Amino acid sequence: MKLQNDLFLRTAKGEITERTPVWLMRQAGRILPEYRAVRKQAGDFITLAKTPEMAAEVTIQPVDILGVDAAIIFSDILVIPEAMGLPYEMVEKKGPLFPKVVQSKQDIDNLKIADPETDLGYVLEAIDIVKRELNGRVPLIGFAGAPFTILCYMVEGQGSKTFSKAKKMLYTQPALAHTLLQKITDSTISYLKAQINHGADLVQVFDSWAGILSPQQYKTFSLPYIKQICDAITETPVTVFAKGAYFARKDIGKLDCQVVGLDWNMDIRESRRMIKNKTLQGNLDPCVLYGSNRSIESHTKKMLKSFGSQYHIANLGHGVYPDTDPDKVKCFIETVKAYQHS
Ligand code: CP3
Repeated sequence: MKLQNDLFLRTAKGEITERTPVWLMRQAGRILPEYRAVRKQAGDFITLAKTPEMAAEVTIQPVDILGVDAAIIFSDILVIPEAMGLPYEMVEKKGPLFPKVVQSKQDIDNLKIADPETDLGYVLEAIDIVKRELNGRVPLIGFAGAPFTILCYMVEGQGSKTFSKAKKMLYTQPALAHTLLQKITDSTISYLKAQINHGADLVQVFDSWAGILSPQQYKTFSLPYIKQICDAITETPVTVFAKGAYFARKDIGKLDCQVVGLDWNMDIRESRRMIKNKTLQGNLDPCVLYGSNRSIESHTKKMLKSFGSQYHIANLGHGVYPDTDPDKVKCFIETVKAYQHS
């Protein structure tokens, strides 16, 4: 299938393009009234994520409504723990909750390596539908959580500011943590490969909690597993987004990935110097979208200028916040599309 708009993919692969592509992390979600309508019909988040026709519909909504240059499959990073035998619930206004958590060697032995075709068939089916319905309009991004971020939820059992229970395992039972991380990594690699088999054009690894680790812990407990994923995925480009891990940029720059995501704490020019020969993605503060259109235009242009005209995929520095006005999101997208580098 020839893509009509392959700007995103060409930029990810390090090719020279006519303009900067743009999409938003968490674009398939609560900012759109059209999403909320489908979500209401589904009743709850997990039903929506597990109903391929509905998941496909909300995946395509931002392409039609916002005009982004890529779609991202509607799902969640927490489908991997569930496929390994640790189901989650999504508590309204609170977030994810795992009734069972991982505490012992026995708990880890009881987990299985996910088999994507049987355990995550609903995501793969949604990808099939999205590919058919997109019909080559824009590329489709697949994704998974980084093993460390997934460990955080499996051990902590819910969201947390500190993830102190998860970090406690790194300090007090490091061997146990490594066993769990390896099992998550094996599951994640086969899951990402299955997404690619079904048509994902690029896969992004979200290390959302990278920033809570010390540089040394990051090298020990997160990077080696992300490296295994990057080395294993040779079929499509890979994006690594390690939120808050400004201290790991040099190391991430050495991974066999094509794109590195930046958050807004990371200086753009400094990041360019640290991360050579890769496309960078990001990094506007999502809070900029609470400002006036004038202010959004000005911040977006400043960001585009700092990144330069090539090897950049415009995005926010983290997911778009649910209470953002879709018109402000459109202003961001249109500013990127209209920008002429001098
Ligand atoms: O980017 C997209 O549009 C695709 C969909 C997507 C979701 N979650 C849908 C979702 C993606 C890529 C994710 C990834 C994800 N999920 C991450 C990594 C990215 C990041 O933000 O750091 C993390 C940490 C999670 C875990 C998670 N899922 C949390 C903590 C929560 C609750 C808080 C919140 O943001 O709502 C979720 C729920 C979730 N995942 C929703 C959506 C649209 C909201 C559920 C709802 O509709 O009520």
